[in-house]
Amino acid sequence: MTITETAAVDTARLQAFMGKMVGDMSTAISGALVLIGDKLGLYKSLAEGGAATAAELAKRTGTAERYVREWLAAQAASGYVDYDPATARFAMNPEQAMALASESSPVYVAGAFEVIASAYLDESKVTAAFRSGKGVGWHEHHECLFRGVERFFRSGYAASLVQSWIPALDGVKEKLAGGAKVADVGCGHGASTILMAQAFPNSSFHGFDFHEPSIERARAAARSAGVAANTRFEVAKAKGFPGRDYDLVTCFDCLHDMGDPQGAAAHIRRALNPDGTFMLVEPFAHDDLADNLNPVGRMYYAASTMICTPNSLSQEVGLGLGAQAGETRLREVVTSAGFTRMRRAAETPFNLILEARP
Ligand SMILES: C[S@@+](CC[C@H](N)C(=O)[O-])C[C@H]1O[C@@H](n2cnc3c(N)ncnc32)[C@H](O)[C@@H]1O
Repeated sequence: MTITETAAVDTARLQAFMGKMVGDMSTAISGALVLIGDKLGLYKSLAEGGAATAAELAKRTGTAERYVREWLAAQAASGYVDYDPATARFAMNPEQAMALASESSPVYVAGAFEVIASAYLDESKVTAAFRSGKGVGWHEHHECLFRGVERFFRSGYAASLVQSWIPALDGVKEKLAGGAKVADVGCGHGASTILMAQAFPNSSFHGFDFHEPSIERARAAARSAGVAANTRFEVAKAKGFPGRDYDLVTCFDCLHDMGDPQGAAAHIRRALNPDGTFMLVEPFAHDDLADNLNPVGRMYYAASTMICTPNSLSQEVGLGLGAQAGETRLREVVTSAGFTRMRRAAETPFNLILEARP
């Protein structure tokens, strides 16, 4: 017996659902085209060089006109570029350019498509893990994940970290301005470490991550950003990073990725000086699943299924906190690790910024 024979089908509901699925299928395949536009500089050239026909854009970017023509048609159908039938020219309005062409804009999202690409490229490993129950470690993913995470999160950090998140913490901005010792744990490519080091040249910033290629990349990025003097990057696990008497320890979008976030928080508690601050930045989430059933929650639950939860399950303890833990669950982890106070200092649609004190 088929499903359609066992239950009455509401035709209107079916049509509406198929409309949604067609939209989702278009979105899912269009991601690959965003990667192409990003890699070949098609968005940048269109945004910076102005309206162009397919032939003009191909010439500007040294690419093949036939491919660019098809790509532009798909972009116009996506609403990622505008099309003028009178001149057969394509163009990007300022809002499209901010999201897709300008790496320094606070809403730049093209880099996120490298994270999405890794979900497809690594899908067979995660499928196998569903069967075995084992984890998939950070290092087992395609390298586009590491770059994509840096590029996706950096926009948000660049827009808010120094301007509003640090000032929202009790007395931390003043300490950093005067000269403080900071550990950025799970620092990845060091986007957050470098932004803080640029803003507070009197302070020293120690970036730790257990993924060696990320640490190498962070060192190179710090050199090119001109902050090699007040940054140091070292391979270390969150539960064992070196140093004591830190004034500030930060974890940006990584505590939930760890197998033992409580053990990591306990180590952070020991490494802080008695008046220090633990700044925990996590993906935005409400406490209850039902309240996270929205586009941001959808994206984060998907990333959590493909990346964060498998990574946590690959490590000791294997708590599998997930990227949508929410403040109450995070509070349990942090207070059970010995912190006595925790409060929400700030939030954005993508992040919760929590302040914990010993
Ligand atoms: C989603 S990325 C965030 C990276 C960076 N903080 C950022 O915001 O761009 C998670 C990072 O946590 C690191 N990580 C995961 N488990 C770890 C552990 N147990 N100890 C140290 N680093 C860990 C990964 O290597 C990865 O760089």
